[in-house]
Amino acid sequence: MRIQDIEFEPFIGAAEVHERITALAEAINRDYATKTPVFLPVLNGSFMFAADLIRQINAACRVSFVKISSYQGMESGGELKTLIGHEESLFNQDLVIVEDIIDSGLTLSKMINELRSLGTRSVEAVALLRKKPAREKAIEVKYVGFDIESEFVLGFGMDYNGLGRNLNEIYKAVTEV
Ligand code: IMP
Ligand code: MG
Repeated sequence: MRIQDIEFEPFIGAAEVHERITALAEAINRDYATKTPVFLPVLNGSFMFAADLIRQINAACRVSFVKISSYQGMESGGELKTLIGHEESLFNQDLVIVEDIIDSGLTLSKMINELRSLGTRSVEAVALLRKKPAREKAIEVKYVGFDIESEFVLGFGMDYNGLGRNLNEIYKAVTEV
């Protein structure tokens, strides 16, 4: 499958994705059984993952979408914009950041620091995918769906130049990136 200048091939199928999301939801259900977590899905990439994950959460919970951006095309821009969204007070709350994919971990580290400074009770993260750089840097992410190498992926919410978010399974770039 070709999107603009990049050739993509199937990587993780829909059934496998859904199986892992169910396992992640079960782990979160166990850990938050007596809490009222606030899920903070990071737009745009996590919309599909967040919908599938959160509908399997049994605990009373809140959901507040946030937005932050560091990527243009296939490379991390390095510079991060401030976190926007979360209009409710997060003071004393148990937060769970919901991310599509962690690459350098820059986005997540910055979010965690910013959210901890708001007097939150706890801040954890769940990511559908984690790339090698985040593993090597031991970025804090408690729940991980799939550990992958450094390949560029798209589908299931994730994009290449804004395209491909609608795909119901995960593809990876054939071209070395
Ligand atoms: P990080 O700050 O380098 O960890 O980048 C994380 C963000 O970049 C994710 O939330 C994604 O939106 C985006 N991103 C990272 N890798 C990919 C990829 O392979 N495909 C699509 N988006 C990606
Ligand atoms: Mg993202």
